[in-house]
Amino acid sequence: MLDEDLKQVADLIKRSDYIIAFTGAGASVESGIPPFRGSENALWDNYSPDILDISTLHEEPLKTWEFIRDVFYDYMFREDIKPNPTHFFLARLEKEGSLKAIVTQNIDNLHQEAGSKEVYEFHGSAAYITCTTCGYRVAPHQLNMKNLPPKCPKCVNKVLKPDFVFFGEGIPQKAYEASFVAARKCDLCIVIGTSGTVMPASMVPIVAKQNGATIVEIGPTPTELTRNGTTDIFLKGKSGEVSRELEQMLFGNVTN
Ligand SMILES: NC(=O)c1ccc[n+]([C@@H]2O[C@H](COP(=O)([O-])OP(=O)(O)OC[C@H]3O[C@@H](n4cnc5c(N)ncnc54)[C@H](O)[C@@H]3O)[C@@H](O)[C@H]2O)c1
Ligand SMILES: [Zn+2]
Repeated sequence: MLDEDLKQVADLIKRSDYIIAFTGAGASVESGIPPFRGSENALWDNYSPDILDISTLHEEPLKTWEFIRDVFYDYMFREDIKPNPTHFFLARLEKEGSLKAIVTQNIDNLHQEAGSKEVYEFHGSAAYITCTTCGYRVAPHQLNMKNLPPKCPKCVNKVLKPDFVFFGEGIPQKAYEASFVAARKCDLCIVIGTSGTVMPASMVPIVAKQNGATIVEIGPTPTELTRNGTTDIFLKGKSGEVSRELEQMLFGNVTN
């Protein structure tokens, strides 16, 4: 990453009135959560994405739930999984006024834990487990993960589902609409830690660009967004490290 590019991005952040961040699994890698792609411990190198298809949950609830427990709940909500400097930097930018929203594909609740308020969870959240029939909701720690698959206490034999979006399901409507309103309004869109391959989420920076925004991408390797010319400035590096440098440049200190 060039110092000059870093300075240019810090300058852009200073000058912009309506910034949004578009984040993906890479933003949480430094918190200890592996991404699906593009990392040495990427999940899809070890599992097939079919396991998170909504039809698999219906047809093989036990197999799906064992996967969900092992790869999500056994560590995503562990005590030692904490927000990293990426999350804290974005929360600080919101507090200072220029960052208006975070559109996240992440389901780990770390932006909210870092203090961000306007967070649109494009793929839902793992912080709750729900019954899609009656709306019953429970937090993961309240569930006995030894007795799988979990069932709704109110509806006979109805298997519960994490509140995140499975393959084959639609995007939560409120988050979808709010995300694209913000994408059309923003003058700067900072893309962090996403492979940009999951549709329709990957349209967020493209819509921002079409509406005149500048696009900055932060990550260890340039993604399709940079290769196809959507990105204006690519900052190569781990997002936590780049965030710390930007925070230092903008505020003269790093709080977390
Ligand atoms: N933390 C989470 O909530 C979590 C974890 C795994 C997967 N997911 C889900 O996976 C789907 C996959 O799409 P995606 O684009 O978000 O992720 P992805 O797994 O497809 O891509 C992750 C990207 O992050 C980059 N990356 C790796 N380490 C990084 C670091 N330290 N700093 C910055 N970037 C880094 C990789 O190069 C890759 O481009 C999303 O829908 C998301 O819901 C979420
Ligand atoms: Zn129910």
